[in-house]
Amino acid sequence: MTHELASAVGLPSPTPAEGPLAASNSSKGRGWWRDAVIYQVYVRSFADSDGDGIGDLRGTTQRLPYLAQLGIDAVWLTPFYASPQADGGYDVADYRTVDPLFGNLADADDLVRTAHELGMRVIVDIVPNHTSDQHPWFRAALAGPTSQSAGSARERYYFRPGKGPAGELPPNDWESVFGGPAWTRTADGEWYLHLFAPEQPDLNWDNREVHEEFESVLRFWLDLGVDGFRIDVAHGMIKAAGLPDIGHKEQARLIGAQKLPFFDQDGVHEIHRSWRRLLDSYPGDRIGVAEAWAPSPDRLALYVRPDELHQAFNFQFLRCPWDPAAMRAVIDESLAATASVGATTTWVLSNHDVVRHPTRYGGGRRGLRRARAAALLMLALPGSAYVYQGEELGLPEVTDLPDEVRQDPAFFRAAGQDGFRDGCRVPIPWAGQEPPYGFGPGSSWLPQPDSWRELSVEAQTGDPYSTLELYRSALELRRRLPGGPMRWLPGPEGLLALSRPGLVCTLNTTGSVIEIPLPGRLLLSTDGMEPSGDTARIPTDSCAWWAI
Ligand code: GLC
Repeated sequence: MTHELASAVGLPSPTPAEGPLAASNSSKGRGWWRDAVIYQVYVRSFADSDGDGIGDLRGTTQRLPYLAQLGIDAVWLTPFYASPQADGGYDVADYRTVDPLFGNLADADDLVRTAHELGMRVIVDIVPNHTSDQHPWFRAALAGPTSQSAGSARERYYFRPGKGPAGELPPNDWESVFGGPAWTRTADGEWYLHLFAPEQPDLNWDNREVHEEFESVLRFWLDLGVDGFRIDVAHGMIKAAGLPDIGHKEQARLIGAQKLPFFDQDGVHEIHRSWRRLLDSYPGDRIGVAEAWAPSPDRLALYVRPDELHQAFNFQFLRCPWDPAAMRAVIDESLAATASVGATTTWVLSNHDVVRHPTRYGGGRRGLRRARAAALLMLALPGSAYVYQGEELGLPEVTDLPDEVRQDPAFFRAAGQDGFRDGCRVPIPWAGQEPPYGFGPGSSWLPQPDSWRELSVEAQTGDPYSTLELYRSALELRRRLPGGPMRWLPGPEGLLALSRPGLVCTLNTTGSVIEIPLPGRLLLSTDGMEPSGDTARIPTDSCAWWAI
């Protein structure tokens, strides 16, 4: 419906962002990321080309035409580097090699080239806060002398003697994000720091070699042609001097809510500045995206100052409950904070670490209605937006995975904690009547629910009421809209109404229909609403776009 829709409402043709990127890559300063829609591919769960049940780079490349048709600007690929996979590849043993599970370097090269030919950019993940415990540096650290001897290979990590008469207690009270102590004791009695799993020792960013190595790794991938990096734990590389105790249990719950001595330390910004200089030294607009769980929009905005990174995920928006006042406040604060540093906001509703938003918003039909409405709101806001694979299909969280198939290290370290991350990582249903629904020629590493038959790409394609067609329409219209600043419009309680040049967006967050004077010509709605006369009846938990 989108082509007829766009021409029927008299919107201009798409901007030249479409088509092969070769030409635009040679010119700097367009700021493509400022309003880009970037699609997150969780490689292991996207598309499997070789039948081992695990998604791979070739599978992803084969599905790139689908993403181009969806209308996204860039793809972010989660880590595909050599890794023992203790944390889904966020435990990297060799930053310059593709893990055989996912393919090889030629496959990575092919993926980047194909994406560029289709007019999409490619962002890869870089994991600088920690390595795998199988990384040569960490193996050398364990094999060599303790941190007390000068020049020890342990200086690249955080090794410390323990507390207590025999050093039997960890050096401080820090807890791992995945639960349990953030320290593990080695055979010779020293302890090492790991903010995540024990298989992910934290690097010491006070060490010169660590800086040099990562600059070299960034160059390696930039030379291969990637358009930027999503920087894992971008708020974590610097720890407070002296590694002070926190004096509080359940520290994982404080992340993003309060300042901790291992997150959001001012020193991280120097690293991002140096990486910005490196990105700028390459042709084209190469970008850095911070995964930073900062305690406030103002702290987050520091990561996107003009000489730092280009984007930082807005997790305040992601965490916001279905409450119009809270949504409005977080949108206002985020826009103000990023504007104060001359950046744009980067909206996100789901990713591979959180419960999928249809489930967060209550699950079932109501959760899906709200998820669709939230997506339309997000895509109406000024700034960039990230779409997590499968959200365009309205996939819910899988909440009944049997324990024996789970792989999230958090599940094993923090029994009793909710929100484990396997349920949002179940492989994508593409087509067909039987699992793995076209994910690959074999099975899938996590089982897909039977109900996903109706949610496959094939099942939704061409159905004007499907979530997939809703996303396609929204992305096409968004490209044709002129953009520009937003302002709130007055409206009845529970209705969020905003306008931007050419567009009004109305979101009914309440459990009942809201009637308002017709805001304009209906462009798109999450509810298939048909306005009549001068009044618009906005259904419960729905969102609509109007041309003005
Ligand atoms: C980030 C990743 C997450 C990973 C963690 C440790 O938060 O998104 O998946 O477990 O970093 O690398």
